[in-house]
Amino acid sequence: MNRSPSHVPVFLIALTGVILFALLSPAPALAHGPVSGGASNDSFNDLFRIMLWIATPIFLLVEGLLLFAIIRYRRQRHDEMPEQVHGNTALELTWTVLALAIIAVVFVLGYRVMQQERLVEAGEETQFTPDLTVHVTGYMFNWDYEYFLGEDEETGVMTTRELTIPARRDVLLEIASSDVQHSFWVPELAGKVDAIPGYVNTLLLNVKEPGRYTGQCAEYCGLNHYAMMIEVNALEPAEFDAWLTDKVAAQNEFQPVGTDLSVELPEGDLDRGRAVFSELGCVACHTTNTDQPSGPSIQRMAADAHRAAEEAGHGDWVPFLHESIVQPCVHLAEGWSQCIMPQDYGERMDAQGLADVIAYIQSYGEERGPGGGPQDQTQADDAAEVAAAS
Ligand code: CUA
Repeated sequence: MNRSPSHVPVFLIALTGVILFALLSPAPALAHGPVSGGASNDSFNDLFRIMLWIATPIFLLVEGLLLFAIIRYRRQRHDEMPEQVHGNTALELTWTVLALAIIAVVFVLGYRVMQQERLVEAGEETQFTPDLTVHVTGYMFNWDYEYFLGEDEETGVMTTRELTIPARRDVLLEIASSDVQHSFWVPELAGKVDAIPGYVNTLLLNVKEPGRYTGQCAEYCGLNHYAMMIEVNALEPAEFDAWLTDKVAAQNEFQPVGTDLSVELPEGDLDRGRAVFSELGCVACHTTNTDQPSGPSIQRMAADAHRAAEEAGHGDWVPFLHESIVQPCVHLAEGWSQCIMPQDYGERMDAQGLADVIAYIQSYGEERGPGGGPQDQTQADDAAEVAAAS
């Protein structure tokens, strides 16, 4: 079959049009970078745009020539032998030199942006002092944040999962890991930064707009990787100062319950316990109804506590749950062969907080709770909400 040659240009033009349209719709391409936060995000986004504009014509040229060659030089007759070409020095020199020149330009532009990042990291040498420094520690499957004024003035304040920072101030994050590799990523604020054991990576934030920004661990770190969420709460500077003052005051009064199992616990409150369960990030590993590779479900914990109490003959669920929380690695739940639960919850909770969490877990027991246990839909919904919101 011999196609009329006049169809070929029409087809080529239409195809080029489609490709151009897809490529040049600016929204998806330009929405790529961070929009509201990392101090270096402007230079980062500028670099991305420049590279996009360099790459787009090259892509179109290469794909265009490829299509042209496919169509123009396709085999038209069965016995046809196309012209054989063996090298073209001028052409080869041109594409080598041109490619080198383009790579050199991209290298210099990229290096300049990397240098800017590095200056921020250098700290003292550049006389740069952030307003707030936060030590970010990733672990399976949460993030802890410790707050320091300026570069290293301790506040004693620590949060989990939710990072609270002031907008329009320089916030330096020093990011590390205490177990495997994780990656700190809040797409609207900045690019990914790896959290690596034994090494500190930094990220300078200066969030333009107060608000909540969500992120997620971006390095596969185990079966609950998907649940390793990040919430950044950027407050107006004055609001942040008030928040920090409150936290410091609470911290000064805070009496950790410790790991001693003989400590008497006060009466617990399940609503407060639900809040603590979320704030401390327990929800990353312990969900309702379903056991996770990272840990038993809340129902399962309640059922185990129930059984332990029966076996001990005293009917009291508290000792089992108390030990499970402050000394989690002493006895593993049946079916789990390794303990990945942090062993410092005795330092993170006071006696009241621990009692509240125990009350919350107990409310999922078969013989507790107004609706008679796990079938109680309100509680299941609550927990699902907590898990979803965290
Ligand atoms: Cu931590 Cu994925």
